[in-house]
Amino acid sequence: MFMAEELLIYTGDKMEQYQSLLPQIKIIIENETDLIANLANISACLKTQFNWLWVGFYLVKDDELVLGPFQGPIACTRIKKGRGVCGTAWQEMKTIIVTDVEKFPGHIACSSLSKSEIVLPIIRNNIVVGVLDVDSEHLGFFDEIDQGFLEEIVSWV
Ligand code: SME
Repeated sequence: MFMAEELLIYTGDKMEQYQSLLPQIKIIIENETDLIANLANISACLKTQFNWLWVGFYLVKDDELVLGPFQGPIACTRIKKGRGVCGTAWQEMKTIIVTDVEKFPGHIACSSLSKSEIVLPIIRNNIVVGVLDVDSEHLGFFDEIDQGFLEEIVSWV
C-alpha cells in the first residue's frame, strides 16, 4: 500500500497552500476505503498545513451529529439538528461561514478561544451524512477561498 512519507508543507498565500495540499490529500485517501481512516488523515493534513485552532468532522448517527476524527482541543460530542453552526449547516444543507461566533445566535462554544468558523455539510445522495468544522482563534478568518477548496475535499470523502 502506498503511503506518503510526510506531508510537504507550503508557506505561500492561502490559495497556494490549498493548491499544494489538495493533491497530497487526494493521494492519501484515494486508495483507502475506510471512512474514519480518511477523515482522520484529512484532519491531520489540514491541521498540519494551516494550524487552525480546531479542525474535524461530526457524523450523523441516530439523528444527531456525533464527534468524529479531529485535531485540536476536546470538543462537544453531540449536536442536534438546527443547533449551533454545525447543526444549522446540517439543517440548511449548505456551507456556513461565521466571521464572529459571538454574533451567531446559538453558536456552541467548544473552546472560548474560537472566534470564527466555517462548517461544510457532507452530502451523499441528497442526505447530509456529516459536517467538516473548522475553528480559528482569529476573527473573520474564513472566506470563499476556504469554502471552495474545503468543499472539494468533502466531495471526495
Ligand atoms: N462551534 C460549533 C460546535 C463544534 S466546535 O466548534 C468543535 C457549533 O456551533 O456548531
